[in-house]
Amino acid sequence: MAEKKKFQAIKGTRDLLPPETELWSRVEQTAREVFGTFGFGEIRPPIFEPTELFARAVGGETDIVSKEMYTFEDRPSDVPDERSQSLSPKIATQIIETYRNGGIPQTSRNYTAVERLEKCLRQLELKQEELRPENFDHVVESLNELSYKLAFLAAQVVLGELVSLRPEATASVCRAYIEHGMHALPQPVKLYYTGPMFRRERPQKGRYRQFYQIGAEVLEMLPPNQDPAKNIGKDAAVDAEVIEMVMAFFARLGLEGVKLEINSIGDRECRPKYVELLRAELMKVKDKLGPDSQRRIETNPLRVLDSKLESEQGIIAGLPKIADHLCANCAGQYAEVKRQLGMRGVAYAENWRLVRGLDYYMRTTFEITARGLGSQNAVCGGGRYDGLVELLGGPPTKGIGFAIGEDRLILSLQEAGKGGAAQERDVFVAWMGEKAQATAISAAQKLRAAGFRVELPPVEQKFGKALGQADKLGARYALILGDDEIATGQWTVKTLADGSQAKMSEAEFFQLLRNSKPLSS
Ligand code: HAM
Repeated sequence: MAEKKKFQAIKGTRDLLPPETELWSRVEQTAREVFGTFGFGEIRPPIFEPTELFARAVGGETDIVSKEMYTFEDRPSDVPDERSQSLSPKIATQIIETYRNGGIPQTSRNYTAVERLEKCLRQLELKQEELRPENFDHVVESLNELSYKLAFLAAQVVLGELVSLRPEATASVCRAYIEHGMHALPQPVKLYYTGPMFRRERPQKGRYRQFYQIGAEVLEMLPPNQDPAKNIGKDAAVDAEVIEMVMAFFARLGLEGVKLEINSIGDRECRPKYVELLRAELMKVKDKLGPDSQRRIETNPLRVLDSKLESEQGIIAGLPKIADHLCANCAGQYAEVKRQLGMRGVAYAENWRLVRGLDYYMRTTFEITARGLGSQNAVCGGGRYDGLVELLGGPPTKGIGFAIGEDRLILSLQEAGKGGAAQERDVFVAWMGEKAQATAISAAQKLRAAGFRVELPPVEQKFGKALGQADKLGARYALILGDDEIATGQWTVKTLADGSQAKMSEAEFFQLLRNSKPLSS
């Protein structure tokens, strides 16, 4: 018999299993509660979006968009995706018809490709009619050539829109804000999300290809004719409150070694000037930099500040700092953010090298690290992104938000021994005999309805074996139901922690459970 292929989760993805998933649920539930107290509502955007959305929002030159997205062509369902070398004329006809009916994007590229495909198809049909025994070899050779050409031309038709699995969700939230006209709602609109993101990165501890984020965004349409200077205090308070919210969430979870770093990366007015200055300074030391940084002098000099290369640290330390080159509005806002954080009792450190790897940021940026994570220790990243909604076709809008790496958050909690106990049962119902089974089923029903975790064996077991199982499952109590208990209405209850045993009525047992521990749900 042929050996069966063993399937495994794809590299960089993994199964989250009990009891760990209990911690995931608890973390997400805590996020809901904490974010709710700050007035945030939940948004659940789709997992895939047009590739163009991410290219425009996150930036075509960023690592995320240029190297790490999972992208595919979302072809129409009625055209098979068999555009190999042996493409049949039938499929070519189908592609042409679908294009004519509007089922394939009506781009100029597709227009030209479909025209050429149609011409080739006609040539093929005419050639087939020429086929005679005396010219067989010659005509078949031409037919082969034409078939090859047909397949090639069909492959030029872009059957559907390019879509990507989301590498992050800020772009989706902004798209949704525009699509649902959320600028007409009372501003600001405060939204949070939880869910999987996808980036084709080299997997390691704390870095996955499918990972989970808990994020939040605050969006506010700019009222017309607003003086930007007037907004400085208000924006700074919003930034500080968003940061305060993440810190409150981490504190509620008992996350350890939490460090917040902040920076301002300027705006459209002052940043380009600083970038030019940085580029000029970097050019002077180009020979001393590694190849990545050398390339970034051209593409994105700010990213040089991100470099972890030991040999570059001394050089970077001597580069001009953006804080010294902020325009008055940006400097004013940065000072106010710091003051506001102070008022809220949020401790922070300034890090002028914190530039973040996504293009949409301006002014406030921040990152939070936690203990026990090794080199991938950023557990949260965020910042302000005024103008992003406008870039995506919406009205002028301000934005600030963050995303927490949930995998890393969980890892840090586990390392600190805050993973929580294994899933346990409140009650294990050990029963023997038909009458006892009826009572056991009804007891289990009542206990579960009251929110207790109950294990009810499907078949009767000797009490010794049942108690062993109850122990293995970490049950708090074993409810022992045999003929005697049914006859007297006095249940036997064993407390597994100390092995003590007592007789009591149903009502007394419920009372004991309620008094001994809060409900496990
Ligand atoms: P980001 O810095 O790319 O920002 O990601 C935020 C967090 O997601 C990181 O700090 C990290 O904890 C986690 N993360 C990122 N990539 C991976 C990975 N491959 N494996 C595990 N965890 C990962 C954003 O995504 C922005 N959208 C944040 C934001 C929201 N800015 C404004 N609003």
